[in-house]
Amino acid sequence: MIIENENDIKHLKTIGHICAMTLQKMMEFARPGMTTGELDDIGRQLLEKEGARSAPISLYHFPGNTCISVSPVIAHGIPGDRVLHEGELINIDVSAELDGYFGDTGASMVLEKHVPELEKMLEATRSVLAKAVQTARAGQQINMIGKTIQQEARRHGYGVIYDLTGHGIGHHLHEEPVQVYNYFKSRDRRILEEGLVLAIEPFLTTGKGHVLEEADGWSLRTTDRSLATQFEHTIIVTKGEPIILTI
Ligand code: CO
Ligand code: CO
Repeated sequence: MIIENENDIKHLKTIGHICAMTLQKMMEFARPGMTTGELDDIGRQLLEKEGARSAPISLYHFPGNTCISVSPVIAHGIPGDRVLHEGELINIDVSAELDGYFGDTGASMVLEKHVPELEKMLEATRSVLAKAVQTARAGQQINMIGKTIQQEARRHGYGVIYDLTGHGIGHHLHEEPVQVYNYFKSRDRRILEEGLVLAIEPFLTTGKGHVLEEADGWSLRTTDRSLATQFEHTIIVTKGEPIILTI
């Protein structure tokens, strides 16, 4: 959506904050020995307490309140009886709606153990997201976001996942522009409009950058079973500094 007034900003900030707090608390609660289903239930309670509705359930009938992916699954992982183990790489993605407005945020993390190789990758992904967010300015071509993501990922020694993208968001979870690529697409001439609400979500990988769907019909894993990490923010594009909503 393109924001029209202060009221839009207020509502987007509210749901953005709810998603961010839910994600943060789930990350704090995540620990070895717990199942992904138990972790998802914490997310459900937090969203319910704020009166927000899980977007994956209400829009896509996803079998979970949040997406919890355990490596090599990198996105759309279904929470269930999978027990989490120390040192595992997981991704939590929270998207929800309140009063007709949507927010979307995500983060990858390592469970409790010190794994330098993974921590380096997480730090790189966080920094790539921050740079990508700053690239998103009104008047700029949308493909500059992907260019920044790809360049910055390479600079840190990683590739990107080509098959997963950021997206417009606002009155629906996925809106125009439906694909905000995580790589440079030279023929993409779309321009960022002032007030556009976007979810930017770079996925960095140690592999070739392609994914496939598992037999459960949801879980996406890398085709080469390589690692992938993601961080996601929902933002409002302005002429200057973007407004980050999922904080
Ligand atoms: Co998300
Ligand atoms: Co998203």
